[in-house]
Amino acid sequence: MPLKQVLSCIQPTGEVHLGNYFGAVKNYVDLQSKYECKYGVVDYHAITMPYDIKKLRYNTWDLIFSLMAVGVQPENLFVQSLVPEHAELGWILNCFCAVGRLTNMTQYKDKSLSVNQGGKETYISAGLLDYPVLQAADILIYKADFVPVGKDQSQHLELSREIAQRFNHFVGQTYFVMPEALYTESPNIRSTADPLRKMSKSAGEKHYISLFSEPPRIRKQIKSAVTDVGTNDGEHMSPGVANLFVILKAASATSEIYKNLLDDYKNGTLRYGDLKHVVAENLIDLLLPFQEKKKEILADKKRAKERIKASSSIIRKKAQETIREVKDLIGLLNVRF
Ligand code: TYM
Repeated sequence: MPLKQVLSCIQPTGEVHLGNYFGAVKNYVDLQSKYECKYGVVDYHAITMPYDIKKLRYNTWDLIFSLMAVGVQPENLFVQSLVPEHAELGWILNCFCAVGRLTNMTQYKDKSLSVNQGGKETYISAGLLDYPVLQAADILIYKADFVPVGKDQSQHLELSREIAQRFNHFVGQTYFVMPEALYTESPNIRSTADPLRKMSKSAGEKHYISLFSEPPRIRKQIKSAVTDVGTNDGEHMSPGVANLFVILKAASATSEIYKNLLDDYKNGTLRYGDLKHVVAENLIDLLLPFQEKKKEILADKKRAKERIKASSSIIRKKAQETIREVKDLIGLLNVRF
């Protein structure tokens, strides 16, 4: 039996945070021993919002180094713009997706609102609207069976399936595989500064905890985590406390400490200061080896970059094969120059 295919991607828009890691990247690493995995750093996606040219290139490489540092194997990594067939398939799939589905996407609505914040005159790009179709192309081009993502991507995943179905119906055969989302046990990490919103970079610095922050900063951020918003009626855990427990469990799944703290909570004897202390120290223990590894990778950046260029070129072959098949299926010319 051929190995099942796994594909996921992440945008180079800044540092990797706990939401990315516990929601998706941890799965990227774990799935490598079971399946054939490909993970893309999607720079074409990152230009759909206003951005800084120099920072994009820096962020693309920095994200690659971070993913390698947490255990993603370099041969499974590629940079999206080095595999331009993603954009080509994206164009084709545009013709299998209704505009109304795109204007309805929650992330499009949220992001298009944020584009006009801050008083700078700017515009909502057609790329932002079209983004989920490119995402469908990222997935379908490798005929991925599984897509490890956080819960915020479930609507995009559903659209990818719809596009695949419409395409398959049009060509009269099950050409594209129906991709399935894979979630971790913590697919929705909240901001510690405002647990009513998800942890994300776009909300600002205090809303995310980077995997590569120095321990004092991690302690400070966890110490100031908000615990008293939302329901706190003694029966239901408030979202802030629940989030700290989720983070603790994700950081040290087998720990007895987790169970003890949860018992304290149930008995009404939990001191939030104690919980925060344990969360911060567990996180630091988890993250320090990643931080050390990243330093090693950065010490020989050139080698790491060469490896990723090589893996992107190998992964591209598979994408080219799909494009050739798709062109044949839908009646486009298929000449090899
Ligand atoms: P991006 O770059 O915003 O996030 C990368 C991954 O991290 C997950 N994630 C979270 N999970 C749990 N809690 C959070 N607070 C949290 N924040 C982020 C995301 O769900 C994602 O899995 N559109 C995608 C990138 C993409 C993609 C793809 C993903 C492009 N093409 C193809 C899968 C397959 C995005 O913007 O993710």
